[in-house]
Amino acid sequence: MIPDYSSRTLDDLTSLVGKRAVVTGGAQGIGAATVARLAEAGADVLVTDIDEVGAAAMAATVAQQTGRKVISTRIDIGDTSTIVAAADLCVEKLGGIEIWVNNAGVYPTTGPAIDAADDFVDRLMQINVRGNFACAREAARRMNGGVIVNLASTTGFRAAPGISAYVMSKHAVVGMTKSLALEFGPKNIRVVGVAPGPIDTPGVQDQLAPLKAAGLDVGARMSQTLLGRAGQADDVARVILFLATDMAAWITGEVVAVDAGSLAG
Ligand SMILES: NC(=O)c1ccc[n+]([C@@H]2O[C@H](COP(=O)([O-])OP(=O)(O)OC[C@H]3O[C@@H](n4cnc5c(N)ncnc54)[C@H](O)[C@@H]3O)[C@@H](O)[C@H]2O)c1
Repeated sequence: MIPDYSSRTLDDLTSLVGKRAVVTGGAQGIGAATVARLAEAGADVLVTDIDEVGAAAMAATVAQQTGRKVISTRIDIGDTSTIVAAADLCVEKLGGIEIWVNNAGVYPTTGPAIDAADDFVDRLMQINVRGNFACAREAARRMNGGVIVNLASTTGFRAAPGISAYVMSKHAVVGMTKSLALEFGPKNIRVVGVAPGPIDTPGVQDQLAPLKAAGLDVGARMSQTLLGRAGQADDVARVILFLATDMAAWITGEVVAVDAGSLAG
């Protein structure tokens, strides 16, 4: 049977009341902004992060602001046992999972590929690729229909100098999004992604600190988008929110660029 979305109001289509969401890496940056928007739209949320204290603080703040049930737990997506525990916790405490945002990721220390050590590449792949794959798998095992949103990057579509391992990992996230959409579609699980351009987050600031210290005008460089400014975490969170709602009910296997035109020109 074809669901009748056209007779539903905009308020209803954009509401997440009754939905249960997990956000990885929710303590700061894009993940934190996403937690706030999902809860504002009515979802109950499990905030997960390797930073247990940060996740707990974010959960308490958003619960207080929105009145939703927002809880937290530590996760290290490089360790599958913690992913399984978090997914089980969401089912136990919130009653199920309809939305899983695969946001946690690590940035590379920049440098030429010719100098990259195997264990550095392994760790990056373990988090950005295998970790996100395991999260999607554990989410799908517990979902009765729903949506998985993966954080790719504009570097999932094109090269960037000095960060080959990161570029490889984000290309993998794009491929994973398409492939899992194919597999999970029959289970009524949509798998989508966002590809942010330069977003001003704590993770990016940490990454850019050495360049700033060397005198580079990092702010000016990050603002080189078609809209003349760097992105804010909420610029991405609003698109994740859209993809998580029934507004995007017929979108799957797609990665949406949220990049102020960086990929366009
Ligand atoms: N900020 C950007 O410009 C940008 C651009 C493209 C893509 N992205 C992607 O968006 C996502 C979030 O980026 P951000 O800039 O908000 O990052 P951030 O570094 O500010 O925050 C990332 C969060 O993930 C957590 N985390 C790191 N490793 C983890 C692990 N193993 N298990 C669980 N949690 C872990 C961190 O503690 C932190 O709270 C990442 O996947 C990143 O690759 C960011």
